[in-house]
Amino acid sequence: MPTRILGIESSCDETAAAVVVDGREILSSVVSSQLDIHRKYGGVVPELASREHLRQIVPVVREALSQAGLHFKDIDAVGVTQGPGLVGSLLVGVTYGKVLATELGKPLVPVNHLEGHVHAVFLEAHIGGKAPELPAICLIVSGGHTLLYHVQSSAPTAERNAEGNGDAAERGFEFRRLGGTRDDAAGEAYDKVARLLALGYPGGPIIDQIAGKVAASGEKFREKDAPNFGPVKIKGNSYDFSFSGVKTAVLYYVRAYPEFTDEIETRKKALQEGRRKAADLFPLCSPRTLAVISKFQSAVVRDLVTRTLEAAQETGSRTVLVSGGVAANSELRERFTSKAAAMGVSVFFPSRALSTDNAAMIAAAAYPHLLAGHLAPTDLNAEPNLRLA
Ligand code: KG4
Ligand code: ZN
Repeated sequence: MPTRILGIESSCDETAAAVVVDGREILSSVVSSQLDIHRKYGGVVPELASREHLRQIVPVVREALSQAGLHFKDIDAVGVTQGPGLVGSLLVGVTYGKVLATELGKPLVPVNHLEGHVHAVFLEAHIGGKAPELPAICLIVSGGHTLLYHVQSSAPTAERNAEGNGDAAERGFEFRRLGGTRDDAAGEAYDKVARLLALGYPGGPIIDQIAGKVAASGEKFREKDAPNFGPVKIKGNSYDFSFSGVKTAVLYYVRAYPEFTDEIETRKKALQEGRRKAADLFPLCSPRTLAVISKFQSAVVRDLVTRTLEAAQETGSRTVLVSGGVAANSELRERFTSKAAAMGVSVFFPSRALSTDNAAMIAAAAYPHLLAGHLAPTDLNAEPNLRLA
């Protein structure tokens, strides 16, 4: 019998629900984003996020069921994000999940949000018919996280071994933490730099698009206009990251050139008027600003790609998995793909829709835990600092 899991995600600023069959077939995936609410504050406001989750959770779950063509009684288990994330946001999903599972008399599976991001890669690889080989190096890179793991398949249980199956969707993963950011997450650096330059919120997509336009226009900025953000030096663990330095370098650069002030004001005005697309803002950027945007992105991307591929080489992993909001970045995808190909390493990304927070990845991650009997205790609580390893 196929197992239909209802996934619920509310760890940050997206309220999401999805139905996934056997950890691999997405019947529905609904995401309600709170971007419009947080935009004017330039970042996620936790109190507003919890309130919005409360308003959205019921309609979002109903919509996920309706798109899947199912009723509550057709669900075999509920998977819910337990952490990491904002405590108030997590509590909405955890509480709703507990009540729902109890009322339905179905098992509740607590899911680590980060493990969900890893499953996002596998979910779509299944659809494409080529599952990534393990062991792999996994980079989770979002607004809240920049983490590097070594991932391998969980040891098969005797019972499942006897069934002769055991792909990632069923067996789940074992993680070893290699490194992580010591200060800002990469997405956070994008958001802060975008704020500094008055490019709107969130910063990742707009910086990505403007940098793309700069590259596509073929107009090389004059090197004298361009700041140089050198490679980040890390003492100790070379798999750790640091992005506050490049963010501060942008800040000092902007301060050093008073001519930035006027165009920043012009862009702030444009944003207030709702003109926040790349096509609106690109013409309002001087060559020097375009240089800062391009060089900032290149520095971040170079650092993420270099450390991740070094980890693949040093651990003898032939596969790299990249997930989280920043995995949507075009330059990151291109650079990873070209550099990895030269090393004989395959890189996998989820589609842009599954790179950012969603509940399909939570339902998929719940499946192996359900099979292994890792169910929630009746007093399940949200864990804002839950770790993967
Ligand atoms: O995974 P996500 O939706 O939420 C969490 O932080 O968990 O990631 C959101 C982050 C934001 O910081 C956003 O600026 C960044 O991902 N982001 C991007 C891109 N799209 C989203 N960063 C770089 N390039 C992008 N295309
Ligand atoms: Zn996330």
